[in-house]
Amino acid sequence: MTVASIPGKAILFGEHAVVYGRPAIAVPVWEVAARVEVLDNPGAAPGSLLVEAPAIDLAGELAALDPSHPLPRIILDTLHALGVEQPPPLRLRVTSTIPIASGLGSGAAVSVAVARALSQHLGCPLEPSRESALAFAVERIHHGTPSGVDNTVVAFGMPVYFRRDDPPVPFRVGAPLHLVIGDTGIALLTSIAVGGVRERWRDKPAAYERRFDAIGAIVDEAHGQIESGRIAALGPLMNRNHVLLQEIGVSSPVLDALVRAATEAGAWGAKLSGAGIGGTMLALAPKERMDAVRAALTRAGAVRTITTQVGE
Ligand code: PMV
Repeated sequence: MTVASIPGKAILFGEHAVVYGRPAIAVPVWEVAARVEVLDNPGAAPGSLLVEAPAIDLAGELAALDPSHPLPRIILDTLHALGVEQPPPLRLRVTSTIPIASGLGSGAAVSVAVARALSQHLGCPLEPSRESALAFAVERIHHGTPSGVDNTVVAFGMPVYFRRDDPPVPFRVGAPLHLVIGDTGIALLTSIAVGGVRERWRDKPAAYERRFDAIGAIVDEAHGQIESGRIAALGPLMNRNHVLLQEIGVSSPVLDALVRAATEAGAWGAKLSGAGIGGTMLALAPKERMDAVRAALTRAGAVRTITTQVGE
């Protein structure tokens, strides 16, 4: 049996502006993961590939599943990329602890886990950049104009500085980051948040471009601070990034309340993370304030909190 476990992700800086060519920084979140098991299925007919994903109620022979659904799609694309026309009889099982549609990159993680487990099982493991490209093609079918940051960070499993159309830059942090992620419990469709920004950008392009530039400058400053381990300096940058996200219309009263609660409980900084409106926010805190921030987020209405450490 071959198993691949792929983490969730959080965007630290730069969401939305990244769709318009500015950089973003994202980190893997190892406390949640998508897991894919591939095993031989002796006795089944050649070419038979049994797919099981109980969480989304999907089970059946690959050939009988809707090929436009993301799971069959990534399996078919991976086999195609490997040049495998008829795989040996296999079973592929997907499970995940990454909450769906909450900005933690669940779809991208499942796609990368499928590409990794299947290619390893068939004896031709793919490079992270190939896995990422396969997952990106699937994200595009369902999200319209994704930047590619999600599939990139989960395939590399490291913090990445990402700019659309440039090779991603995985990097090491100079000192550990302690993050608390708060989930509003409001499922969001990334395409709706991204579409709303696009409409407002079309309406006022100059004002939006200025804000995207300001976000890009924050990302570049943050990248330097993270690499050199000046973690507390990231707090004010996160707060500024959140204000810019408010200005482009992707925050909401519940996200603002969680951000405020985290800061009042001693976080260095906090911001929404991902597409916004619902979904998640994240706070950066001194290690000894993590529990207090987590409790404050729960009191302020977070349905779930995840604490994670990036680096070491
Ligand atoms: O909510 P998520 O994790 O799907 O993040 C979306 C991030 C955006 O920048 C808003 C869109 C993108 O494709 O990068």
